[in-house]
Amino acid sequence: MAGLDGWRHLHLESIDSTNTEAMRRASDGDPGNLWITAGEQTAGKARRGRDWVSEQGNLYSSLLIFDVGETAMLATLPLVIALALHKAIIACAPVREDQLKIKWPNDLLLNGKKLSGILLETTADKSGRQAVIIGCGVNCAHFPDNPLYPATSLHAEGVIVQPDDLFQHYAKQMAETLKSWNRGAGFANIRREWLARATGIGEAVTARFDDAEIVGTFQDMDAEGRLVLTDAEGAEHRISAADIFFGTSSGLGA
Ligand code: BTN
Repeated sequence: MAGLDGWRHLHLESIDSTNTEAMRRASDGDPGNLWITAGEQTAGKARRGRDWVSEQGNLYSSLLIFDVGETAMLATLPLVIALALHKAIIACAPVREDQLKIKWPNDLLLNGKKLSGILLETTADKSGRQAVIIGCGVNCAHFPDNPLYPATSLHAEGVIVQPDDLFQHYAKQMAETLKSWNRGAGFANIRREWLARATGIGEAVTARFDDAEIVGTFQDMDAEGRLVLTDAEGAEHRISAADIFFGTSSGLGA
């Protein structure tokens, strides 16, 4: 297990899911501040119970942390992670800021296509302390044939970056950005930096929920990390969780 500025790092060649492994370790009493990376995942997890295809060549990482702060501020954590990952990629890859954008809340789009995904999970250790697991996958070499949103990889866009090199930059940016977030107290600064890198503000978006959609204009991301959308009647909606599509249709039917 290697050290990384006070954080621990465990690299595994193959695992079912780095998030699942982090949850197991939290339950088994790991003290946290632990990074887990894997060469491949055999049961990678995406949001909403979907699978995350996890062949060799991409970055698969999970960070296990405790005492993250108030539950209300936890909702802003995905935006913190997206910002750190954006900075990490810009720092280690020949990618321009205008090519790499954050799609609310935490996907990175490279040339308009999905490059990465973040999955936050929580669990409790034996004493009931809340553990937060921050899973992050970046398509360095491969990308799935994604039916939900067009995807890409760094490689497919002409950018060669090794997963481990990207991980070193990402872990460094995460340490800095988590510090500046300060368990939510510093979210105002994070919000400003996030907005400067966001895509779609002022544009038509469709927010898709399990059984409904809202179509409107993406106005802002608010002080609680919610997407602010106004619909055709001028009604304002503050959205905490949804799949977001640009334009007036998710392309999936109602
Ligand atoms: C999404 O966009 O739906 C989120 C995908 C998150 C994938 C990462 S890969 C590392 C970590 N381990 C998992 O099983 N999932 C996350």
